[in-house]
Amino acid sequence: MKENQPSRARFGSKFGVVMAAVGSAVGLGNIWRFPYELGMNGGFAFLLVYLLCVLALGIPVMLAELVIGRRSRSNVFGSFKVLSPNGKWHYLGVVYVVAAFIISSFYFVVAGWSLEYVYQAVTDQFSNRSPLELSQAFTDFSTDALRPIFWTIVFVFLAAGVILAGVRKGIENISKVLMPMLFVIIVVLCVRSVTLPNATEGLKFLFYPDFSKINSSVVLSALGQAFFSLSIGMGCLITYGSYIDKENNLLGTSVEVSVLDTLVSVLASVAIFPAVFSLGINPAKGPELVFITLPNVFMQIPGGYVWSVLFFLLLALAALTSIISLLEVITAYVSEEFKIKRRTAVFMASALLMFSATLCSLSLGEGSVLQLFGMPIFTLFDYVSAKIFMPLGGLFIAVFLGWFCSRKMVFDELTNGGSLKTKAYDLFYFLLRYFVPIAILMVFINELS
Ligand code: PFF
Repeated sequence: MKENQPSRARFGSKFGVVMAAVGSAVGLGNIWRFPYELGMNGGFAFLLVYLLCVLALGIPVMLAELVIGRRSRSNVFGSFKVLSPNGKWHYLGVVYVVAAFIISSFYFVVAGWSLEYVYQAVTDQFSNRSPLELSQAFTDFSTDALRPIFWTIVFVFLAAGVILAGVRKGIENISKVLMPMLFVIIVVLCVRSVTLPNATEGLKFLFYPDFSKINSSVVLSALGQAFFSLSIGMGCLITYGSYIDKENNLLGTSVEVSVLDTLVSVLASVAIFPAVFSLGINPAKGPELVFITLPNVFMQIPGGYVWSVLFFLLLALAALTSIISLLEVITAYVSEEFKIKRRTAVFMASALLMFSATLCSLSLGEGSVLQLFGMPIFTLFDYVSAKIFMPLGGLFIAVFLGWFCSRKMVFDELTNGGSLKTKAYDLFYFLLRYFVPIAILMVFINELS
């Protein structure tokens, strides 16, 4: 179906597909969000539930998104229209675009923080500062009215520029180099972190099973984090799926992306928590955890200056490859559905995002009035996207493909027209139809009761 769209963009190679999807998945969610969620939700208990969520819920939903995208060859709104012309499912597509917008708004702010830290690393501002001073410096910076906004806006320009330059191929190519580099740096940090004095406390926190810590809110946090980290539940991989050619083994791609993404999150935690305990930082510090912990670790590594510059640079670039995928959801929708030039769509989206990201950043200032439901809108956006939009979005994707699309179509897409054979497809279909919707519903019912 729909192979008659020669003008529609395509990823270049199988490796390119995996790297583009990994580029979207690996980002601030792994290095910034995962450790702080883990720290606030009891360590190992969270890790365990997280791994289960990735395996039993994340991989099936990711695969479902890729199937929907590749089959329909359309943006997140159009894909539902193509696959269910008489249904109302495309309205869900609009909700996904809104979710992409909400995520981008606070994501841009944190991406801006990473640029400030590149600047601080380059200008050697971490040396000779105590953990307390570094923590205070972060608070001063993030609650400042202007500085974070400046960096956020720089980041919006950067992301828009990359998309405008039409360098999806460039992103593929950059990702191929950047992702392995980021990996190496994290491994170096892990080695240093676990050899710090008192590091075993952190490792215990990470790997000592204390099942009494598992409760409904830990499960919802882990579920939300899994979907956030894998970039699923809001159509990002529907959009990317629409650029994948029909020879690609979608199941293999989903597993590879999920494994790599999870590995980066776990390694980031191994780099952070031993240091957190060694330095006497509170593991439940929240969003500032990475920014106040890692500069301390760098100062204890030979050549720490170079490592710190490299690390924050790569963090910013990992954020960039994720943000581009978020912007792509919005851009593809606006340009294809409203028949607007991509360039105009990028401008419109960037201008709006600049505005909402600015509000998010300002909401963190002391005494800011930009609060809703008792929390800064930055925190609210982070909360609703990972804990409401993405899990529920994933549920609807599973229900749509599992119950409202023909089984024949799903199998055709999964097996590339019958040329791939494996038993895993039956398992996938079962998970999609029954397990994923019921499990996600139960997590919500449990949390609400
Ligand atoms: N997966 C990204 C991360 O972990 O940083 C965040 C993200 C990107 C979420 C793209 C959703 C998305 F569509």
